[in-house]
Amino acid sequence: MRENFILSKSDSPRMFDAIAGRYDFLNRILSLGQDTKWRQRLREYLPSGNSIHVLDLACGTADVLIALAKNNPAVTQGVGVDLAHRMLLIGRAKISAAGLSDKIILQAGDAQALQFLDESFDCVSIAFGIRNVPDLRLCLLEMYRVSKKGGRVLILESSKPTHPLLLAGHWLYINTFVPLMGFLFSGHGRAYRYLSQTIQSFPSGDRFCKILKQFGLINVQSYPLMGGAATIYVGEK
Ligand SMILES: C[S@@+](CC[C@H](N)C(=O)[O-])C[C@H]1O[C@@H](n2cnc3c(N)ncnc32)[C@H](O)[C@@H]1O
Repeated sequence: MRENFILSKSDSPRMFDAIAGRYDFLNRILSLGQDTKWRQRLREYLPSGNSIHVLDLACGTADVLIALAKNNPAVTQGVGVDLAHRMLLIGRAKISAAGLSDKIILQAGDAQALQFLDESFDCVSIAFGIRNVPDLRLCLLEMYRVSKKGGRVLILESSKPTHPLLLAGHWLYINTFVPLMGFLFSGHGRAYRYLSQTIQSFPSGDRFCKILKQFGLINVQSYPLMGGAATIYVGEK
């Protein structure tokens, strides 16, 4: 039965714990080496200021916080939240190796029910995470709630190209290459079939911008990357 092979979003932290040791390596392969550049691009959309406090949700192994804070004195504090403990362990080791332990801390927590006070952060980010959170609505409400007035919400997410040729190539890529590589390199083919499934069903482009506006964000913009294989969404509170 096909249902046995499809994971639900609430399984996602357990699934990421299972693949944590291979997660970064597979990200590099599956994005054809682009994912680190995409996270670096987020720096361009940070709010202005010289003491920026960033909250990164579904932070995984901390690549976003490291990309935003490394060699960037404007980011003075980063907090990462994720439910997958093994991803956090790897993230903490990377933060320490990057010499960023004084700036960045990682905590176990649910992106749908944050433990922070209203308007605590200048920037709230989430990369390749919002698609995995069971209730998109709760996550967006929380992102909005903990952002300061005038603060920024940054979302980096896989998306679907709009050009028909690119869309067809993308479909093939995520339905063949991604699950195959996931199976070969992580031994968890199910996890990577789940990835393909969520990429196809998650709203992207203008449709996702419309959702962000419905949650109160203003000046919402989207910036497609690599023909639309991923998109950075920026909104302000
Ligand atoms: C694809 S990974 C992204 C990790 C990281 N942001 C990156 O850029 O590589 C998705 C992450 O979402 C986390 N996640 C899923 N549901 C969550 C939730 N409700 N609250 C917090 N994290 C969650 C998973 O544990 C996993 O680490």
